[in-house]
Amino acid sequence: MPDQIKRIAVMTSGGDSPGMNAAIRAAVRTGLHHGLEVYGIQQAYAGLIEGDIRRMTSRSVSGILKSGGTILQTARLPQFKELGYQRKALRRLNEYDIDSLIVIGGDGSLTGALALHKLGVRVVGIPASIDNDIAGTSTSIGVDTAVNTIVEAVDRLRDTASSHERVFLVEVMGRNCGYLALVSGLITGAEIVLIPERAMSLDELGDVVVRAYNQGKTHALGIIAEGANLKCSDISEYLLRHDIGFEVRITILGHIQRGGSPSAFDRLLATRMGVAAVDYLLKGETGVMVALEGRGIITKKLEDVIGKQRPLSPQYDELADILIR
Ligand code: ADP
Ligand code: F6P
Repeated sequence: MPDQIKRIAVMTSGGDSPGMNAAIRAAVRTGLHHGLEVYGIQQAYAGLIEGDIRRMTSRSVSGILKSGGTILQTARLPQFKELGYQRKALRRLNEYDIDSLIVIGGDGSLTGALALHKLGVRVVGIPASIDNDIAGTSTSIGVDTAVNTIVEAVDRLRDTASSHERVFLVEVMGRNCGYLALVSGLITGAEIVLIPERAMSLDELGDVVVRAYNQGKTHALGIIAEGANLKCSDISEYLLRHDIGFEVRITILGHIQRGGSPSAFDRLLATRMGVAAVDYLLKGETGVMVALEGRGIITKKLEDVIGKQRPLSPQYDELADILIR
């Protein structure tokens, strides 16, 4: 163990995702197991700068494994892109004698982690975001739970859509990434999936709906990624103007997708990543992110993964061509 590692701190940052608590719990307990002092930073980089930092014990993380959200809370602090704010954070870490930091969050949060690493802080990141847009890892904490939430909601919408012979346009999250829309469209039997990676015109979308109507379908489901080239309202107006046979309704799933108890998969992934983050720190790694590759948890250099959106699997694209119609 590099002898300077004595006090580590954990924070969650950016959009929360189900499983963050499981990762906090695993990191805290692994740190304590190795005889380290462990601190929790409340409200991400904002809390770090303000010194909202508390000592964590094994009891601090009891009973949180199954809870969504994050007990450390999260925040967005756009000014953290500025060197002055990063230096304030460094000063605060030095004040508390914290030598190592674990940042649990998305691409933006990991970019902040890299900035601190460049100022000399030992840092390990843990990828957590429902969007599945973080490069370098097969998946991130929270994605599986979010997909399950979307599927449950869309299955319910399909029941009512079918009863009333309606088109339902369902907007799902994902920022600029179409993963949530594509995968949930594939496994709910949607007729339409619109994702940022593959723009479609209103005429193309209209044709799909007209075809569904002419084939005698009792409904049509469209999963529209929030970052897609068209909004649900654009599509709805177009369909109404062209009198396609079905009535149209819009559902925006919104932040429902970010809450809820983490799935078994996310609990296990978060637990493994939390343990691995501390283990890799103790092995002397810094400036890295833990990542799922195959069945193993490995590390990737932060500078190799941040700012690069994880590409969609071409296999899912092929499946979509065959099945989404
Ligand atoms: P996520 O981590 O989920 O991608 P954001 O993109 O909102 O969420 O980023 C979360 C926080 O990370 C920001 O509010 C900011 O404090 C920090 N951050 C984002 N981008 C940078 C950057 N380029 N440099 C330093 N810190 C950043
Ligand atoms: O990155 C996670 C995410 O939920 C995105 O899918 C979405 O675009 C964004 O965060 C919403 O952010 P906010 O919490 O600020 O509404």
